[in-house]
Amino acid sequence: MKNSTRIVILITLVLKLLFFGCGKQESTIKYTIGFSQCNSAEPWREAMNKELLREAAKHPELKIMINDGQQDNSKQVADVENFIVQEVDLLIISPNEAQPLTNIVEKAFDKDIPIIVLDRKVLTDKYTVFIGAENVKIGKAAGEYAAKLLKGKGNVVEIWGLKGSTPAMERHEGFIQGLSSHPVIKIIYEQDGAWLRRKGREIMENALQRFDKIDLVYGHNDPMVIGAYIAAKNANRVDKTFFIGIDGLPGAEGGAQAVLNGELNATFLYPTGGEKAVQVALDILAGKKVPKTITLETVTIDKSNASNYK
Ligand code: FRU
Repeated sequence: MKNSTRIVILITLVLKLLFFGCGKQESTIKYTIGFSQCNSAEPWREAMNKELLREAAKHPELKIMINDGQQDNSKQVADVENFIVQEVDLLIISPNEAQPLTNIVEKAFDKDIPIIVLDRKVLTDKYTVFIGAENVKIGKAAGEYAAKLLKGKGNVVEIWGLKGSTPAMERHEGFIQGLSSHPVIKIIYEQDGAWLRRKGREIMENALQRFDKIDLVYGHNDPMVIGAYIAAKNANRVDKTFFIGIDGLPGAEGGAQAVLNGELNATFLYPTGGEKAVQVALDILAGKKVPKTITLETVTIDKSNASNYK
């Protein structure tokens, strides 16, 4: 083979790799989806992104772009604004906080972009479909579980998720409902932990200093409760306290494993919905009618079944 022929073959191969090798062939892409994720740093969010991309990889006609809002409402508004400018075919959004993201969702919807709201809600019905588990129901189940562990009486510390996000509001509301027939159970301390493990730990350190008797910690997600558990452990006060969380993420750092380790007494599965979101997006893009709400199911995870979820 002549040297010049070799060079031509080499260049062609490199070009092919550049254009087609690292992803989908541009020519097969029919739809572009913009996913505005409120943050990609937490394990649960990482799991959601992975699920979404895994499902999307099965469909050569789809291209998904994920923007990380970094837990910052204005960054997330700008991310959605960018997707509108890019004229994406569909928007998926998991909003950081409800109120600050409402206007931009309405703006996208008014531009005829179909919208899937995933896990956290916005304060408008200008979207195509909401996909997520029922947080009031989960909170209520957590309240009832707490009442059972406490045999109807005791002091509770509640660690909230970000107060402007709907799962935090709804998980609190449900918890109060679950405790409603147990007036002797008291929430003695409640603070916003912003969904973060580090904050859960700090809140618990304060609570331990202020209160001699803490019978149960209820946190709106597992990472915050695991943070609280670490604080209690360092203070030699885990023995008389129950710990309840939400998420039940699989994996070494997840809630199901924390139940098996004896750190959490229970957690409630909160599916990420990543896979479902892609399937529903395909339906919408194919012009099929979809329901306004798609509910994902929860499960109580405790010692009796945690090994099935790790
Ligand atoms: C992750 C997370 C989860 C929680 C969900 C609520 O950002 O905090 O732990 O269940 O968001 O939206």
